[in-house]
Amino acid sequence: MRGITIVRLSPDSDHLATVASWTYAEWGHLHPNSTANSYREALRRECGDGGVPSVFVAMQGDQPVGTAALLAEDMDSRRELTPWLASVFVLPEWRGQGIASTLIRRVEQEAADCGIRQFYLFTPDQQALYRRLGWQDHEDLCYRGEKVTIMLRQLEA
Ligand SMILES: CC(C)(COP(=O)(O)OP(=O)(O)OC[C@H]1O[C@@H](n2cnc3c(N)ncnc32)[C@H](O)[C@@H]1OP(=O)(O)O)[C@@H](O)C(=O)NCCC(=O)NCCS
Repeated sequence: MRGITIVRLSPDSDHLATVASWTYAEWGHLHPNSTANSYREALRRECGDGGVPSVFVAMQGDQPVGTAALLAEDMDSRRELTPWLASVFVLPEWRGQGIASTLIRRVEQEAADCGIRQFYLFTPDQQALYRRLGWQDHEDLCYRGEKVTIMLRQLEA
């Protein structure tokens, strides 16, 4: 993790297209009508300027290597739950060094700073990572053809 900094992604950042290309490659198939372009424009809208929504990027010098977001909505079938930790992604060659954990902590801090006491995520296969960081299992369900777990994080007042 030496040399990694976490920065807020701004809508006019040179890195926006790079980050959108990662999330489109990873999750675009879950949204059949999406395109690389629509992912980039959605990401631009998600940047916000603090609180919900926010997008963060892990930087190694000038190179973006990972991302995570705080969003109002992330699951069509559970619109009553809000907000969400979403789009946690680290480039393959940078994994296993705690970068995702640091991004997740940054999103938790953002949520706590704007008075959020609990928020959610869903994951098909990363439950262990989130449990280690204090997240609890909330509900198992099938979402867009995949078995996933909704997890809940309670934040200190
Ligand atoms: C899931 C994902 C975000 C994890 O990113 P990461 O940066 O490797 O995550 P971390 O390094 O914080 O934690 C991952 C592992 O590294 C270990 N680790 C953490 N800090 C470490 C360190 N300093 N040195 C060595 N290992 C470390 C953790 O214990 C964890 O172990 P595990 O493999 O048993 O789970 C990444 O694999 C990814 O982008 N996957 C594809 C997209 C995805 O699945 N996103 C999650 C959607 S819910």
